[in-house]
Amino acid sequence: MSPVSDELRALYQEVILDHYKRPRNFGELDPADSTAEGYNPLCGDQIKVFVRMDGEVVEAVQFEGAGCAISTASASLMTEAVKGKTRAEAEDLFKSFRDLVTGSEASEADLGKLEVLAGVRDYPIRIKCAVLAWHALHSALGSRDTISTE
Ligand code: FES
Repeated sequence: MSPVSDELRALYQEVILDHYKRPRNFGELDPADSTAEGYNPLCGDQIKVFVRMDGEVVEAVQFEGAGCAISTASASLMTEAVKGKTRAEAEDLFKSFRDLVTGSEASEADLGKLEVLAGVRDYPIRIKCAVLAWHALHSALGSRDTISTE
């Protein structure tokens, strides 16, 4: 990804704040096929993700829990991004998103709105916040119950 201009950075912050203040797909999903909790041992925050599948397609995904602005916004953006995707596509997004925020690989994938969180790569302690809900989603899709970002 090319360097982010100040203007773009401000826009990214606006999107993050909006999803923090008005999280999408927030609350318990009932019925759900699987749930999993992500736990950040650095701060004790937890996010629970609920998934309902229609065959191999993520029909609905919601989350609940209290976290910081980054973890809440990331969870909200995640639910929007994976809804309607197949299990495999959702897993691919998880990997691409993790690469984006850890900066471990130059991601060629177009992550759309998720790219607003790319800035966390400069703040290692915030990376765990950004991937918290994604780890829970990964567990829910694989039917494991609790996962720590450690
Ligand atoms: Fe706890 Fe971000 S500070 S998840």
